[in-house]
Amino acid sequence: MTHARQHPIQVVAHRGASEDAPEHTLAAYKKAIEDGADALECDVRLTADGHLVCVHDRRVNRTSNGRGAVSALELAELAALDFGSWKNRDEAPDWEIGPDTSVLTLERLLELVADAGRRVELAIETKHPTRWAGQVEERLLMLLKRFGLDAPESAEESPVRVMSFSARSLQRVRTVSPTLPTVYLMQFVSPRLRDGRLPAGVRIAGPSIRIVRNHPAYIERLKKADHQVHVWTVNEPQDVDLCVELGVDAIITNRPRAVRHQLGH
Ligand code: G3P
Ligand code: CA
Repeated sequence: MTHARQHPIQVVAHRGASEDAPEHTLAAYKKAIEDGADALECDVRLTADGHLVCVHDRRVNRTSNGRGAVSALELAELAALDFGSWKNRDEAPDWEIGPDTSVLTLERLLELVADAGRRVELAIETKHPTRWAGQVEERLLMLLKRFGLDAPESAEESPVRVMSFSARSLQRVRTVSPTLPTVYLMQFVSPRLRDGRLPAGVRIAGPSIRIVRNHPAYIERLKKADHQVHVWTVNEPQDVDLCVELGVDAIITNRPRAVRHQLGH
């Protein structure tokens, strides 16, 4: 990976180019890279045998032909499932059911990014980390270490950031890797953070687009407090315009190509 940030507003592909291809599959991430995304967002969960896989829901029912909780299945069982066919294929997609639509490990995603041939950042969200008492973060940091990504010289230079709705999960990451940037995700603004503060040590806020629409003054407070603002999930052109107007730093979207086009990247 090289280290120059290309655009003032980053376009982050949410679960890959997930409007066009089945979310969290190699097909979706390859498409996002082709579409010019600056960064890729992914959710990670632990399998029964301790692997980190990229799956959003607690269960595999919605996005595969299998059933059950990710945490109750071993990687080999997940690898036997089809994570692509559920996606509407009416529009002659450019992805095929096969290796690119099987379960994606975080390790494989890190390899894809390493081989991208340009800087592609990774925003990794720990899902339900409280249930695992630190194991998700521990595995994550071990894996990042293997790729030389766990201890960047500075947060600004890091091509990887860790996101969570759990301040505790982010704290665990920072305790081991103080320079790895962390993003505090928010579905609503907690009263104790209304003044624009974030949990101790967190520099990046991750508000939902609903917060941005309903409380633009809050976004201004975050910016004034010198926090970066990464907004999810921004798919509508008028929301992209609002994000630009408010000067957010990253737009997390299912449609990286369309958003890049709108931003003139
Ligand atoms: O990027 C943050 C966003 O992905 C959080 O919501 O449910 O899509 O993981 P969710
Ligand atoms: Ca997510």
